[in-house]
Amino acid sequence: MNTQSSERGVWSSKLGFILAGAGSAIGLGNIWRFPTTAGQYGGGAFVAVYLVSIALICLAVMIAELTLGRHTLRNPVGAYNELAPRSSWKYLGLLGVITGWGISSFYSVVAGWTLGYIFKTVTGVFTDLGPAEIESVFVAFTSNPVASIGCHAVFMTLTMLILYGGVKAGIEKWSKILMPVLLVILVLLVIRSVTLEGAAEGLAFYIKPNWGNLTGEGVVAAVGQAFFSLSLGMGTMITYGSYLSKKENLVSSAVWVASLDTLIALLAGFAIMPAIFAFGLDPAKGAGLIFVVLPNVFNKIFLGNLFGTGFFVLLAVAAVTSLISIVEVPAAYFIDEKKMSRKKAVTISGLGAFLVGIPAALSLGSVDSLTNLVQIRGKSQGFLDLMNIIFGQYSLIIGSLGVAVFVGWKWGVAKANAEIAEGHPKYSAQAVFAFFIRFVAPIAVAALLICLILFPDAF
Ligand code: TRP
Repeated sequence: MNTQSSERGVWSSKLGFILAGAGSAIGLGNIWRFPTTAGQYGGGAFVAVYLVSIALICLAVMIAELTLGRHTLRNPVGAYNELAPRSSWKYLGLLGVITGWGISSFYSVVAGWTLGYIFKTVTGVFTDLGPAEIESVFVAFTSNPVASIGCHAVFMTLTMLILYGGVKAGIEKWSKILMPVLLVILVLLVIRSVTLEGAAEGLAFYIKPNWGNLTGEGVVAAVGQAFFSLSLGMGTMITYGSYLSKKENLVSSAVWVASLDTLIALLAGFAIMPAIFAFGLDPAKGAGLIFVVLPNVFNKIFLGNLFGTGFFVLLAVAAVTSLISIVEVPAAYFIDEKKMSRKKAVTISGLGAFLVGIPAALSLGSVDSLTNLVQIRGKSQGFLDLMNIIFGQYSLIIGSLGVAVFVGWKWGVAKANAEIAEGHPKYSAQAVFAFFIRFVAPIAVAALLICLILFPDAF
């Protein structure tokens, strides 16, 4: 165990882990997916469900994943294999591996847009354009197959290059310096956005829950968003937990990561929602929302092109520190379980995600059959939207339910609590953790899934 642990290495300090964990958690999920989904599902009520999910369900699941990782020092499939040998639990790990592929494919496409937007802001493409023209720039960009696949390719290559060197080498250092800068630009955007003329309507949409707006589908989306944003349900936090030293306090680390992540998501909402209404845009626009809204805000800021460029650079960095933690899950599986070299494992995982990402990249205007792939409740959904819903929402909900049941009932809370206590001598919340991981989290998630199956029309 000890030699394995020193070969794998550990985060350099508790702060190192918190920032790396936050580096995984904070990404497109907070700045792109949170405002987009909140806008589609009715604003304030969605946000309320999202916050409640984090406190009542996700925190316990995050502690459970970190505990599993630190105890077994393994990738997710290996962790289940070690604690429940020759059982079907390994399929839960395998679901995580497949989900990693599914999410990384479209994640890299959207991250590629941030690269395109760095170029556009630095060259001043948006200067003097009004909201409608800014929107046509986005549409022209994403419906150009060369641009969208090209940016996706560049982004995935960047991710693979970092991963060839191993997960931890770069992540910790990058996260430490760049995340705080992102926070500063975000605060600046919030200040500008809430002081725009007409911001009040957007603020009300965002913070005043209008329960009549909330559908069952919106509740599932909010819970799914909470898992997505905290990188839960597919084994990322199991992997990151396996790099945590025994000295560290898992509970406070989880609370820190979850709080920072939630703070950034809420700020992103404050930066975007008021601006949507101030510029007369549609909050339910979908995947392009922030790329259409934010250039308008930058146009209203002194040195807007400079801040805009800085913002998209940092968003790209936030996306890369998250994407590596997604692609690492299939890669770690190939390395540990299929005995591949790191290079081969990363190449297969990254290339696979790149290929699945191609139809996603073509589904915003380039190819009509992919853009309007299916009709769900009267709204046309493209390939990217569908991948986002299947892997970014349902898979994570099922995966998180699995983790809660595994730690709560199969491996057992006594063992989990003993592992937590290793780095936390004054740990006295054993019963609280047990209650949440055995009852609250699985019952809430299972009830949601059962409602979904029994009353599909309510959703
Ligand atoms: N949480 C990250 C974000 O908000 C994305 C991410 C990283 C993720 N690892 C994950 C999402 C694991 C789901 C599962 O951008």
